[in-house]
Amino acid sequence: PRHLLDFADWTPERLTALLDNADTMSQVLDRPVRKVPALQGLTVCTAFFENSTRTRVSFELAARRMSADVVSFAAGASSLNKGESLRDTVEVLTAYKVDAYVVRHPASGAAHLVARYSGKPVINAGDGRRAHPTQALLDAYTIRQEFGSLEGKTVAILGDIRHSRVARSNAELLPKLGARVRLCGPATLLPADLAALPGVTVTTDPREAVRGAHAVMALRLQQERMSGGYLASLAEYADHYQVNARLLREAEPGAIVLHPGPMNRDLEISSDVADGEQSRILRQVENGQAVRMSVLYHLLVGRE
Ligand code: CP
Repeated sequence: PRHLLDFADWTPERLTALLDNADTMSQVLDRPVRKVPALQGLTVCTAFFENSTRTRVSFELAARRMSADVVSFAAGASSLNKGESLRDTVEVLTAYKVDAYVVRHPASGAAHLVARYSGKPVINAGDGRRAHPTQALLDAYTIRQEFGSLEGKTVAILGDIRHSRVARSNAELLPKLGARVRLCGPATLLPADLAALPGVTVTTDPREAVRGAHAVMALRLQQERMSGGYLASLAEYADHYQVNARLLREAEPGAIVLHPGPMNRDLEISSDVADGEQSRILRQVENGQAVRMSVLYHLLVGRE
């Protein structure tokens, strides 16, 4: 595929190749000099219309580690604020010879529009509630690193599934790589349509979700996307759905704990578990850079 917008066009073989190549990129990051000339002469634009720490920084570092030029388009300081359209904005950036875009936007489908307007490879860095494919890839990479394979593994994802592009992308990706996904949250935050995806089940019972799981992922309650009525009380949510030591006892011994970040500590995840020995949350962050190097390399020069 020319873009990474979601996983619709991506075969398990291509996805596995991306993860394998992330292993190579990880070796580059372990060297004293963390730079290779792979993308020399190419320009990557990170266009973020919504806040980010991990995704933006890791993409910019990933591109620079491979010697690409990086232009960071700050939507909040741009002529969008004077009424310029997304289309005109993208056409301006493309006129400066940008070779690929990394796009985050609050509207689902915005990355598709950038692909259409620019004619360049586009990586979706999170669009509304729809997809965040590089997050799911780094989650898959982290699970594979731990267990050697995704095949036959069970991944429980708990929290605000309704507003989560991370849940949606993992529900698309992990079964393609042989894992089973259990999505769990209160009924108001659990859209039933996701149960139609192959390899995905949904439940409102956190113990049922976590029982025998190899990886347990907590998701952030996205209060900025909740205009009321989804939760009676945060304390009640934490009582039932928080990923904590008590709930983890239901998981497979040796299960790992994930969170895409940013975390609401002691709400969807207890601090002792977030910082505990089963946590791979900082490993996810670290792996993000290697995975994003692999994706940039694949789309810019490695597709053939
Ligand atoms: N997980 C994630 O996308 O984090 P950021 O919003 O900080 O990029």
